[in-house]
Amino acid sequence: MKILVTGGLGFIGSHTVVELQNEGFEVIAIDNLSNSSIDVLDGIERITGKKPLFENIDLRDKSAVQSFFSKNQDISGVIHFAASKAVGESVENPLLYYENNINSLVYLLQELQKKPEAHFIFSSSCTVYGQAEKMPITENAHIQSAMSPYGNTKQIGEEIITDVAKVTNINSILLRYFNPIGAHPSAEIGELPLGVPQNLVPFITQTAFGIREKLSVFGSDYPTPDGTAIRDYIHVVDLAKAHVIALQRLLNKQNLEKVETFNLGTGTGSSVLEVITAFEKVSNQKLNYQIVDRREGDIVEAFANTDKANTVLGWKAQSTLEEALTSAWKWEQKIRNK
Ligand code: UD1
Repeated sequence: MKILVTGGLGFIGSHTVVELQNEGFEVIAIDNLSNSSIDVLDGIERITGKKPLFENIDLRDKSAVQSFFSKNQDISGVIHFAASKAVGESVENPLLYYENNINSLVYLLQELQKKPEAHFIFSSSCTVYGQAEKMPITENAHIQSAMSPYGNTKQIGEEIITDVAKVTNINSILLRYFNPIGAHPSAEIGELPLGVPQNLVPFITQTAFGIREKLSVFGSDYPTPDGTAIRDYIHVVDLAKAHVIALQRLLNKQNLEKVETFNLGTGTGSSVLEVITAFEKVSNQKLNYQIVDRREGDIVEAFANTDKANTVLGWKAQSTLEEALTSAWKWEQKIRNK
């Protein structure tokens, strides 16, 4: 079966292409290379023995999307990752985010609704919950008004898919990721942040490698046991596997509703200081860091209730925080020593 993966050369996309190919799917990846490298195709080939089909398409180009689907009528499912994801940039340039994340989704769904039936997996985020009242967060938790245009595109994306499902044959699964980290254990693919990393783990690995002088820990006065903010860090390979299981659920018609939603996390929260300690242990070195003020817009804590993913989807995160950090560190060293 041929599966389209948009954003297939990106961080989560590339790991999902690997897992799809491992399960015997034929993959066609689309990417505009705005935040990824063509070399990722070689990394995927080295892991799986097979290079996925690839097209450099910008999904904001409606006619390109149309002609892609008319040429590829045998696509059985779509996993849609292609999107911009930097919170700060989205505040600076909201229209870029609305154009990139919303238009592309609309154009894809317009093509899928022409089919007698379609299967669609959407990359959503725990950001839709904002600061949830209760931990761990279930899928029924209140959706809060978004704190950034980026977050808003995820909420609007979920709403568009839900509206479209009511009147089309598109079956969808919305996957709300907590904090994806790590890299493939082979260190053939991983995260490639542009410029100064905004996310914690790439900043840690770059600091450990000496590219950054020190890590700033944003806030130590949060109402948490050690005062630093808590997140649910999930290994990207576990996350990728969840996409394959979700797709198989749709293809096998096991979904109970036209749109289903699952949290993808480990169920365990870790503080920033706990992540640093775990990193120091696996890398066997001290990390240079300092405590600074809170970062604007950050929440205190977010970790997933994974019961629905565990029981309904039949998926559970397998890797520990240490394993995820080990893979991130191995990847950082590999790309820097090239
Ligand atoms: C961020 C986004 C979220 C997005 C996710 C993608 C914000 C507010 N949220 O989540 O919408 O889906 O990335 O992966 O940007 N930290 C430091 N020092 C650093 C970097 C981070 O102390 O240099 C802390 C943060 O304050 C936070 C934790 O580390 O407590 C995780 O931060 P980060 O990796 O940026 O993820 P989120 O902010 O949770």
